[in-house]
Amino acid sequence: MMKRANPLFIFPLVAMSLASCAPSLIYDNKDVDMRGTITSFKPGSVWRDVDGNVIQAHGGQIQMMPIPNEHGVKENKYVWVGENKTNGSRGDPVSLYWSDDLYNWHCGGEVMRTVEKREDLDEDPYFSSLYSSYTAAQKDNVYTILNKSAVVERPKMLYNAKNDNYVIWFHSDGPTPAHDFAYDAGCSGVAVSDSPFGPFRLIDRYRLNECPDDQFDCFPLSKGEARDMNLFQDDDGKAYIVYTSENNKTIYLSRLNEDYTYLDVDPKEAVHKRDFIRLFPSSMREAPALAKIEGRYYLMTSSTTGWASNVATCWSSDSLFGEWRSDGNPCVGEGSMFAFDTQSTCIFQASNGAWIYYGDRWNAKKIADSRYVWLPAKLNDGKLNIEWKSNWTY
Ligand code: DGJ
Repeated sequence: MMKRANPLFIFPLVAMSLASCAPSLIYDNKDVDMRGTITSFKPGSVWRDVDGNVIQAHGGQIQMMPIPNEHGVKENKYVWVGENKTNGSRGDPVSLYWSDDLYNWHCGGEVMRTVEKREDLDEDPYFSSLYSSYTAAQKDNVYTILNKSAVVERPKMLYNAKNDNYVIWFHSDGPTPAHDFAYDAGCSGVAVSDSPFGPFRLIDRYRLNECPDDQFDCFPLSKGEARDMNLFQDDDGKAYIVYTSENNKTIYLSRLNEDYTYLDVDPKEAVHKRDFIRLFPSSMREAPALAKIEGRYYLMTSSTTGWASNVATCWSSDSLFGEWRSDGNPCVGEGSMFAFDTQSTCIFQASNGAWIYYGDRWNAKKIADSRYVWLPAKLNDGKLNIEWKSNWTY
């Protein structure tokens, strides 16, 4: 049986030794504990919710969306979904927080839970009612995807106005019968709920678009892989999934259907540059974060060094399926060669128009203590610029 190289772990040692040269400025807040009423961002500090618990929403996404208040009336709030890494980096439930000001966050709980034992899908009331219409084989599949050893990473959530429901996509991974490697499945999982607070019901996980026949496939052994991912909702309501494929060598961007629950066009029928686009072949990028700023699309990515930080790269384009320009490293100043010791996860806009970069500062030795680094993201001469600030407000 062929053993595949694990690209996620090829470079970490080199990157970690380089990262140790990073300037100390970016670790200013490492012992700071943000609790009580918070009035500014202190990137890299411990960030607690309004109840005093450390926020567990890694690899996440921030956006304004309608969510029900205590009377069931929908109000626009900032919503933060992410990985709850309290118990490590496998089988992470998806947690949700909401806020009025981006500084102080209320915990909305675990909105998509992972499953301890296969029997729980039949016997635990939470799961048995959620999956009551599923066959035994479908429940087996749910267990494969959401068990406590599975990879559940980079969850993102969209509000679907057409159906008035919420859809979560996430990087779903794990070993396969062919290879006992934690990132062999290489899929995107999708789950739905009528409430942002869940419970989210897993639909399935999928391989996505494939390299067109007339292009050079960087990893023909394993078609349609989808690992680190993000969702993007354009001004016209159309939604897209952007993800790393071809053994992390190539980024893909694919349009979702109107329900946001699958690709708009099945991979077998999809046409390159009409339904999806294959971007930056052989570039080895992951952690895609896509934003539309002043009418132009900006796609920030990291390199592929496991939990270790590395240099970020940004591309930009006037149209999603058009030509993309390489804009180089968006980070500037001290710490910029390691993205201020972060990995990109999202770029979002505050209600006053300010753009914010959110990166994860992973702590491989104690993953639950990974920190959030939010920094101002600005355009400078048409390119994205991110600079370190130890203490700032938007
Ligand atoms: C980098 C990815 O971006 C993370 O989400 C996670 O998969 C780590 N690799 C695991 O090493």
